[in-house]
Amino acid sequence: MRHDVLINNIGQLLLPKNTETPLKGEAMKQLETMENAAVAISGGKVSWLGSHEESRQKEADRVIDAEGKLVSPGLVDPHTHLVFGGSREEEMALKQAGVAYLDILKQGGGILSTVQATRDASEEELFEKGKFHLERIASHGVTTMEAKSGYGLDKKTELKQLKVVKKLNETSKLDITATFLGPHAIPEDYKGREDAFLDEMIGLLDEIKKKNLAQYTDIFCETGVFTTEQSLRFMEASKEKGFGVKIHADEIDPLGGTELAVDMDAVSADHLVAASDAGISKLADSSTVAVLLPGTTFYLGKDTYARARKMIDSGAAVSLATDFNPGSCVTENLQLIMSIAALKLKMTPEEIWNAATVNAAHAIGMEKQAGTIEIGKPADIVVWDAPNYKYIPYHYGVNHTRTVMKNGEVVWERADSHVF
Ligand code: NIG
Ligand code: FE
Repeated sequence: MRHDVLINNIGQLLLPKNTETPLKGEAMKQLETMENAAVAISGGKVSWLGSHEESRQKEADRVIDAEGKLVSPGLVDPHTHLVFGGSREEEMALKQAGVAYLDILKQGGGILSTVQATRDASEEELFEKGKFHLERIASHGVTTMEAKSGYGLDKKTELKQLKVVKKLNETSKLDITATFLGPHAIPEDYKGREDAFLDEMIGLLDEIKKKNLAQYTDIFCETGVFTTEQSLRFMEASKEKGFGVKIHADEIDPLGGTELAVDMDAVSADHLVAASDAGISKLADSSTVAVLLPGTTFYLGKDTYARARKMIDSGAAVSLATDFNPGSCVTENLQLIMSIAALKLKMTPEEIWNAATVNAAHAIGMEKQAGTIEIGKPADIVVWDAPNYKYIPYHYGVNHTRTVMKNGEVVWERADSHVF
């Protein structure tokens, strides 16, 4: 059999385990590697994998020499706010002056200022801007991701954002899972009428479902935003309409969003900085993935990070994401998040790679298509300019990808490469 592509001379091939449920606790600490390996691709899928030696017998239309470096599954970013108008660099000075994130929001800034910019932008403008950020995300090794709405807070703009996500999914090589985050903040004209606003967002679910504009819904459960009761109501309505559910939970105050996520069988519970002991032990007994966003804690200048060690050691499934958005984490670089996870969450390199590949795929229901390199699975593969997997979290803040492939096609490639 002649293959389309053969990646040979792989110094270290990363083979995270693909199981039916996300990797939990001890299983997160295991990471299989194959040294001196090769991978073949045909019809966009992985068609063979074995040793570099054996690959000499293989024929392929194109050979990619990995030069003895690291090759991994494409990274998965399971939490982004990809589509938005404008930017918020003015807020940095406010934060430096000590104004709290939730106070900026209370004064009509923060999320609400992006809402205005997103309402003002045309669908075409949002598409072009989203495409720019998406390409940068892909260049950093991500081949599957999630994107949320939530900067519209009205029917017209929420649908506009979701349509842009759909178009980006259809026109780019990447797979993008869409999440409806209508209840992301309370719009100014609904202050004091939060339940009426929530009803309006619930009222959009039918149309979103009918047009297949989102697979999941999400809600910001936080002091001054939505209560756990309101979150429960929204999640119940979402499930009833056939959506999977996610929640921005216990980011700043421990309201019990983590527990609620488990009770509602959410595919993921995200942030969890203030998650309680009870919440963590509930998570450990569930298949809900804890999507941790340490880049956000870092960017908000907080000292307290999510308790990843306790979560993993208790047996929970942990994943990592950028939370890319214009306010609380302004970076498209998931590798940087992997470094912050090492430095601040004290996660090991093995846990970090499982978190950013297979568990991230589970967090958006994409585990059958993404997160691992296996025969028959889409060939989403990254050749890194790094000697081994420990190197990526270690050397921080820059892009280490050399070749990024999605479904066997090159999405991004760097001309030069570094000699170790
Ligand atoms: O996940 N926490 C709520 N939402 C976003 C921030 C959005 C923004 O500040 O624009 C987050 O951090
Ligand atoms: Fe977020």
